[in-house]
Amino acid sequence: MEKSRIIIALDYPNEEQALSLIRQLDPAQCRLKVGKELFTRAGPSLVKRLAAQGFSIFLDLKFHDIPHTVARACLAAADLGVWMLNIHALGGLSMMKAAQEALANHPSRPQLIAVTVLTSMDQAALSQIGLAGTPEDNVLQLALLTQEAGLNGIVCSGQEAPVLRQALGKEFLLVTPGIRPAGVDPKDQQRVLTPREALAKGANYLVIGRPITAAPDPMMALRAIEAEISNV
Ligand code: C5P
Repeated sequence: MEKSRIIIALDYPNEEQALSLIRQLDPAQCRLKVGKELFTRAGPSLVKRLAAQGFSIFLDLKFHDIPHTVARACLAAADLGVWMLNIHALGGLSMMKAAQEALANHPSRPQLIAVTVLTSMDQAALSQIGLAGTPEDNVLQLALLTQEAGLNGIVCSGQEAPVLRQALGKEFLLVTPGIRPAGVDPKDQQRVLTPREALAKGANYLVIGRPITAAPDPMMALRAIEAEISNV
């Protein structure tokens, strides 16, 4: 069986809470995303341990710095054994190329993807920092730049996926958060898609947090999502 297209966002404030979910999970059933909060609390040792247990880890630290620093940070992440990591496309072409080149010869080269425009930024927020054009224009431009740098894909919203898939071709990875199974409270996510809809629009992987982690029975929630997408 092909490994899961579901990436569970481990947005927990401490290692114990993360582990109480992870103990119920099978590495063949899902991948895991470790973000800034858990990483800052639990550190590289947790990531290493989970990778050693066979979990595919997406290290979501969104590196954004001078090219040399980002390249070295990406190498450090790859050495933890992660499956995927990300950087900010706004760091520019030379930063992205430096990251890509640093990983090129790594014995277990992770998938390297970029964040384009944070979905928390609307038109007004872009204008404030001096970026012209709509959020959609900027996402597309940064996605094309990411592809030019040789990265494997981007994080994007499911709504943007069809346009991006068209522009970037079928090999480019689209990793999509903002997923809510039908009937689940969207909470703070504004524009949500169901798992089926996101895959149908061209997403390769679904980042899913609270619909699984905050469910009364996380394993049941995971299995329900798997069933929903099994024939997409
Ligand atoms: O709980 P929920 O399913 O909303 O979690 C989604 C995860 O995806 C969180 O870790 C969040 O930080 C991340 N994310 C997002 N929107 C983006 C980029 C990342 O929700 N544009």
